[in-house]
Order: sequence, then structure tokens, then C-alpha cells
Amino acid sequence: MKELLTSPGFLSPYGTWGADVSSIMAWVFTLLFIYGWHVGKKHQGQRHHLVTLWGMLAMLLYFTLYYLARGLGALSVEGKEGFGGPQWVYDYVFGPILTVHITAVSLGLVLAVYMLILGFRASFKKNGGRYLKSASLYMEAKNFRKILISAGVGLGIVAIIRWGSIQRLMVYLSGFLIVAAVLLLERGLERWMPDGAVRHRKIGAVTMTLYVVALFTSTISYVLLYYIYPVKP
Ligand code: HEM
Repeated sequence: MKELLTSPGFLSPYGTWGADVSSIMAWVFTLLFIYGWHVGKKHQGQRHHLVTLWGMLAMLLYFTLYYLARGLGALSVEGKEGFGGPQWVYDYVFGPILTVHITAVSLGLVLAVYMLILGFRASFKKNGGRYLKSASLYMEAKNFRKILISAGVGLGIVAIIRWGSIQRLMVYLSGFLIVAAVLLLERGLERWMPDGAVRHRKIGAVTMTLYVVALFTSTISYVLLYYIYPVKP
């Protein structure tokens, strides 16, 4: 699998299969989320729920499988050795763009999980439609503890049973850190924005914007790496 992903790609003269597939997937998922955002804005709550829920779950699954097959993202790995341009472009253009990209993706992953759960907690179904309820929404302290402990114990047991490599362990550890980050995020945000509907709309807009930033920066990085400054064999 690793060989296929590092073999010559089909989108650009110097790209790899891995980089090409992840670029296409980034476009597909982001366009899907923009559509989900658009229908949310048009108050089509049920359609918005279905598109974002299945789109985000597919993205999280793809991300995990890709990570297991390829190690880190193609951009972050190939970006270090695969950049054939001048040092100043690396330092002042490519490096900062890659940093923004990795930050947006990391925050976007945590927010994807956070928003999916908030979507269910802050909405209700009526006559086939789905609507946000405008009311204070808090998480009880005992639920906070219960979720954190269950995630730690559950993922710990799975990590021991399925012990294989450090890479795999990192997936379980990241899973736990995402759960902890989501819980802490909720604790902070519920004080600042007690209304669940307001929280969903505001943090949802931030999440969607982060996905657009991630797509924009990954596309620029792709063009720099594989069109403008490739390492020519
Ligand atoms: C990553 C996941 C999600 C993101 C980023 C997200 C984002 C958003 C945003 C930005 C809006 C406001 C649109 C606007 O008025 O400008 C919205 C509205 C809404 N969302 Fe989500 N959402 C997500 C998942 C969900 C889920 C899973 C559900 C349901 C279980 C849900 C239910 C709703 C509902 C009912 C509305 C209100 C639509 C209306 O105005 O009638 N969302 N969402």
C-alpha cells in the first residue's frame, strides 16, 4: 500500500499517488461540507444534518485509514524532503502555509467531533424536519467524568488487545486526546455561549471556515511542491 501511495501520481508531473488522492479527497469533502453549510443556512436542518454527519464520519474514517497506510499526511512528510525551491521560499512561503494547514486540520478534526455531538444535543426532530432549540445547554460534571474515564479505559483496552505498532498506538492516543479536547472545549464554550443553538451556529461557522482554509492551504502547497518547485529526479 505504501508503495502505491508513493508511486508517481496522475494529477501533476511530479506528484505522488498519495498526494493526488488526498488532494481529490480534500476537495470532495470540503465541497460536501460547503453544501451542508449552504442547506443549514437555508434552514433545511434535516438535510444539513445528514450531509454533515455522514460527510464528517466518512472524512474521519478516511483520515484514520490514510494515516495508518501512509504515516503522516503526504504534504507534511514530502514537504520536508520534497521541496525543491529556494530556502527563502521555504522559510517565508511554503513553511508558514504548511503550518497554517496543519493547524487548521488539527483544530478541524477536534471541532468535527465536537460539532457532530453538539448537533444532536442542540437539535430536535419534528414532522420530518430538524430544528435547533434555543435554550441553555450544559454538560453535567458527572457526565464529563464518565465520558473521560470510559474513553480512557475503552481505548486503553483496545490498544492492548490490538497492540501492533507505535503508529497504531498513536491512533488510540489521538482518539483519547480528541475526546479530552472536545470535553474541555465544551466546558469553556458553554460558559461563554450558554445557548446551544447560538453555540452550534457560531462554532459551526468557525469549523466550516477552517475547512475552507485547510483546502486553500493544501492546494497552494500541492502546486508549490509538484508544479513550481518539485525535486526533479
Ligand atoms: C461538523 C458538523 C456540523 C457543522 C460544522 C455544522 C454547522 C452548522 C452551521 C454553521 C449552522 C448555521 C447555518 C446558518 O444559519 O448560517 C448549522 C445549523 C444547524 N445544524 Fe449544524 N453543523 C454540524 C452538524 C450538525 C448535526 C450532526 C446536526 C443534527 C444532528 C445539525 C443540526 C443543525 C440544525 C437543525 C441547524 C439549524 C438549521 C436551521 O437554521 O433551521 N448540525 N449547523
